[in-house]
Parts: sequence; C-alpha cells; structure tokens
Amino acid sequence: MKILVTGGAGFIGCNFIYYMLEKHPEYDLVCLDALTYAGNLKSLKKALESPKFKFVKGSISDRAFVDRLFADEAFDVVVNFAAESHVDRSIENPSVFLETNIMGTACLLDASKKYGVKRFHQVSTDEVYGDLPLDRPDLFFTESTPLHTSSPYSSSKASADLLTLAYYRTYGLPVTISRCSNNYGPYQFPEKLIPLMIVRAQEDENLPVYGQGLNVRDWLYVDDHCKAIDLIIHEGRVGEVYNVGGHNEKQNIEVVKTVLAHLNKPESLITYVKDRAGHDLRYAIDPAKISSELGWTPETKFEDGMKRTVEWYLENKEWIDDIKSGEYAEYSKRVYGDI
Ligand code: NAD
Ligand code: DAU
Repeated sequence: MKILVTGGAGFIGCNFIYYMLEKHPEYDLVCLDALTYAGNLKSLKKALESPKFKFVKGSISDRAFVDRLFADEAFDVVVNFAAESHVDRSIENPSVFLETNIMGTACLLDASKKYGVKRFHQVSTDEVYGDLPLDRPDLFFTESTPLHTSSPYSSSKASADLLTLAYYRTYGLPVTISRCSNNYGPYQFPEKLIPLMIVRAQEDENLPVYGQGLNVRDWLYVDDHCKAIDLIIHEGRVGEVYNVGGHNEKQNIEVVKTVLAHLNKPESLITYVKDRAGHDLRYAIDPAKISSELGWTPETKFEDGMKRTVEWYLENKEWIDDIKSGEYAEYSKRVYGDI
C-alpha cells in the first residue's frame, strides 16, 4: 500500500506519518509539502531515516507537478492534510486560503480521479459547522448539522468538503471526510492557543487571551485524531463524513490556566486582549457515528495529553528556537505587539 500524505511537515500530518510508520511498517509513505511557514522538515527528522518514507517538496496547487507525481508514484490512498490552517491569518489575508484549501484540493481530486486512487481522504474540521451557543450545552455538531461557516479559513475548508463530495457523486471517486475538533500535542506551530501559551509562558511573556476567555473548544490529543483517520481510510464507508471529537470541552481560560499550572508560572501573565473578529463561541462534536460504526474512542485523557505536550515543548527547545528565528518574530510583533 502506498499512501500520499500531503501537508506532512505540519503539525497533524507529521504526527500521522509517525503513527502510520509504527502501526503499518509495511506501507510506503510519501509526504508532499510546500514547506510554508507552518511546514518544518525538522519535524520529520526521524521519519526521513526510514526506507519506507520519502519527502517531496511541492505545492498541492501546482497541477503539472502533482500530475507527474501521481503518474510516477501510483498512490493507492491520498490523505490531504495540506492547508493554510490558522483562523487569525485567514482574517488578515484570505486569498492564500482559497488558493491552497480550495484550488489545491481540487487539483488533488483531479489527479486522484485520473490515476485511479482507491481512497481520497479529506482532513476537514468541525469549524465547517460554525458555532454553538454557550448557553445550550445539550447541542452538538452531528454529520448532518448544516454547514454555516464564520471565517475565511472555515469557508475554504467547507468549500473543499463540498468539492470532495461532488467528486464522489459525479465521478464515483471513493472519498471520505473527517471533521475533527481542536487538536493539541507535539510539533504544533506556536501560533495556535496551547503551544503559543507554552512558549510565551516559558519566557515569562504575557499571555494574550481573546475577549474574556470564555469561548469553548473541544480538545483532542493528536494521536487520537491519527487513529481515527487510519480507521476511516481502512474501514470507513465511501462518500461518508465522520465527525471526530472526544467530549472534552474547555473554556479557553481553563486551558491557559492548565498550561500555567504545568509550568509553575503565575496567572498574572494572563492578559485579556481584543477579541478575534467573528469569533466562534463553542465547538462540540458528537462522535456517535465513528464510535458506533468504526469502534473509535479517544485514548488520551486531557490531563495526560497536556502533561505530555508541555514536556515535549520543554524538551524540544531547539525546534522552537528554530521557528522563532524565522517569520514568527515578525508575526508575533504584528499580532500581539508589546502586550
Ligand atoms: P499546519 O498549519 O500545522 O500544517 C499545514 C501543512 O501544510 C504545513 O506543513 C504546510 O507547509 C503545508 N502546506 C500548506 N500549503 C501547502 C501547499 N500549497 N502544498 C503543500 N503543502 C502545503 O496544519 P495542521 O494543524 O497540522 O492541520 C492539518 C489539517 O488538519 C488542515 O487541513 C486543517 O484544516 C485540519 N485540521 C486541523 C485541526 C487542528 O486543531 N489543528 C483540527 C481539525 C482539522
Ligand atoms: O476546531 C478545529 C480547528 O481548531 C482547526 O480547524 C484549525 O486549523 C485550528 O487552528 C483550530 O482553530 P481555533 O481557532 O479554534 O484554534 P486557535 O488555537 O487559533 O484558538 C483556540 C481558541 O483560543 C480560540 O477560541 C481563540 C483563542 N485564542 C487563540 C489565540 C491564538 C486566544 O484567546 N488567544 C490567542 O492568542
């Protein structure tokens, strides 16, 4: 079995590559990644030592390049992680989100159709459902919740989902889609809430909490997401969408306080800043379908996953320092100024 993993130099993609190399040592994995600011070859250092893994630099939007790659490699399965993934950046500059997340996915779908890929899996997000009110804890996103996006990021992901389903209906391409809640774990770029707070707190920098910190996210340890995708590509029904989430809702402020407690840093570092435009209030996944059809359940408890994550960032300072030396410093200054 040969699998193309796009976006494998990013957070979830690289964790997926490690998960698959261990779980299916007989598979061949090829990673296609453009190495944008969010992609990091250092995250794949150990994978690059494996004879079953190959890295290719290129963009999923480059039609000629993607066509040649598919012709040369004859992939059985494509798992598309490649995307612009940060909501705040999509608010600043939507166009690259449309180019990568929509046009890039279209390009991969065409190549998958042309070269007879046996499964195209689109890694999507719970953000395509919009948000839920804070005062209705009884409501959850199911696979039939209408798409109702808020940001340019989530709109681009919803567009890609619709295209993927259209390729199933119109051309019979065997597709599946997973819509997962917020992931956390090793190798996450420190623009996202948990690694941002870990990295800043370590340096005794103030921690920017949007609004009042009351928005709710449903946190899942990244390996549990990888396990879900592995199950879906092997046992999921084609043409189907699977929600992935572990009923682990937390207010942002609780998450930030958990980080501070793990690092033994004072809560006085918390600084409330201007809210994100269009900020989604609450995400909450109902994972009943993937649990009942595929037997998926999350394995990592939030307390254990957070401990493991904080320890990983403390032990991998070189990985962080490398990021900080790039465009990250300029981004941090532009977005957070001198808070
Ligand atoms: P990330 O930003 O850490 O990584 C994205 C990767 O895609 C990077 O390696 C980047 O270099 C690569 N990339 C970007 N543009 C590309 C292009 N044109 N061609 C090839 N590669 C390109 O993202 P992530 O957090 O790992 O998310 C991966 C996927 O999972 C995304 O599709 C995202 O929408 C989805 N997702 C993320 C979460 C989450 O909590 N992080 C939750 C649900 C779904
Ligand atoms: O739900 C899945 C989605 O989760 C993925 O599709 C996205 O790719 C991923 O980035 C994530 O989106 P969020 O917007 O929920 O994640 P982020 O880490 O940016 O923010 C989490 C919450 O923390 C959100 O309510 C905004 C808040 N926040 C974020 C940052 C960066 C802050 O309060 N301060 C910050 O500095």
